[in-house]
Amino acid sequence: MKILIATVKPFAPAAIEKIKSIVDDKGYKFALLEKYTDKSQLLEAVADADALIIRSDKITNEVMNAAKNLKIVVRAGAGYDNVDLDSARAKGIVVMNTPGQNSNAVAELALGMMVFLARNKFNGTAGTELKDKKLGIHAYGNVGKNVSRIAKGFDMDVYAYDPFVANKDIEADGVQPIDTVEELYSTCDYISLHIPANKHTIKSIDYNLLKNMPEGGTLVNTARKEVVDEEGLFKLMEERDDIKYISDIAPDIREQFEDRFGDRVFFTPKKMGAQTAEANINAGVAAAKQIIRFFEEGDVTFKVN
Ligand code: 3PG
Repeated sequence: MKILIATVKPFAPAAIEKIKSIVDDKGYKFALLEKYTDKSQLLEAVADADALIIRSDKITNEVMNAAKNLKIVVRAGAGYDNVDLDSARAKGIVVMNTPGQNSNAVAELALGMMVFLARNKFNGTAGTELKDKKLGIHAYGNVGKNVSRIAKGFDMDVYAYDPFVANKDIEADGVQPIDTVEELYSTCDYISLHIPANKHTIKSIDYNLLKNMPEGGTLVNTARKEVVDEEGLFKLMEERDDIKYISDIAPDIREQFEDRFGDRVFFTPKKMGAQTAEANINAGVAAAKQIIRFFEEGDVTFKVN
C-alpha cells in the first residue's frame, strides 16, 4: 500500500518526519510530492497511490481517474471544498478531513490580523484596542470556538451565530448566541468568518449583510475567499470609508482592493492560517493515522462523502 503526501504548500519538515515514521512503522510505502507546479506532476505521482494526504490541493475527477488504486483521500485540515466529493463517491473513494487539528493556528492568525489592523499595521501611529469591542463569530465550529477563547483573553465581548449549534453550547463558553445572521453583522465591530465554502455559502457575505455593520466595522476572513461577494464588499467600502477587510485568502480582485483602499485592507501573501509546525503535525499525523485505521479496521470516522 502506498501513501502519498501531495501538497503544493509543504508541511513543516517535523510533520513530514512524523508522518513518514508512522507510515514506515506500519510497513506501508511512503511517498512525497510537494511544491508541485504543474497538474501533470500530481497526475503522475498519484498513478500508483492507494491513499492520499493533501491540503488545499485540488482533487478533481481527472486526478481520481489517474489514480487507479486510490481508496482514500484525507484532507489534512478542515475544509474539503477542494475535493470533488461526487466523483469520489462514484468511484468508491473515501474522503475524510481532520477536524479541529489546525483550528488553534487559524484562530491565532485571526486575532493576530485583528491586532495588526487595529494598530495601523504597526506603522507607529495611534491605533485602537480590541478590549471591549464586540466580536461576532460567524459559525461556531472548531475554529470559531478557538477564536472565542482567545478573544475573551483580550476582553472582547464575544457573540456567535451558528444555526447548527445549540444556544446552550455557545453560552457554556461564555459567548452570547445571536439568532440571525443579520443581527450578528449589525451588532459587532469585528466579524470573523468560519463558514465552509459550499453552494449555500458562496458569495453569501454580501453588500446587504455587510452594509449594516457599525461604524468602523471590520470583516476578518480566515475561511474561504469564495464566501465573500467581492464586488458587493468593494462597493460598500467605496461608499463607507470606515469599513475594513482583512483576509488570509486574498480576493480575486486583490490589486483593486489594495489600490483603492490601502490601509483599510490587509491580505496575507498566501493562505497561512494553518501554516504552523504544530498544526502541520496535528493534521498530518491525524491524516496518516486515519488512513491506517481505515486500511486495518475499516474505520470511516471523519468520512465526509
Ligand atoms: C483548512 O481548511 O483546514 C484550512 O483552510 C487550511 O488549509 P491549508 O492546509 O491549505 O493551509
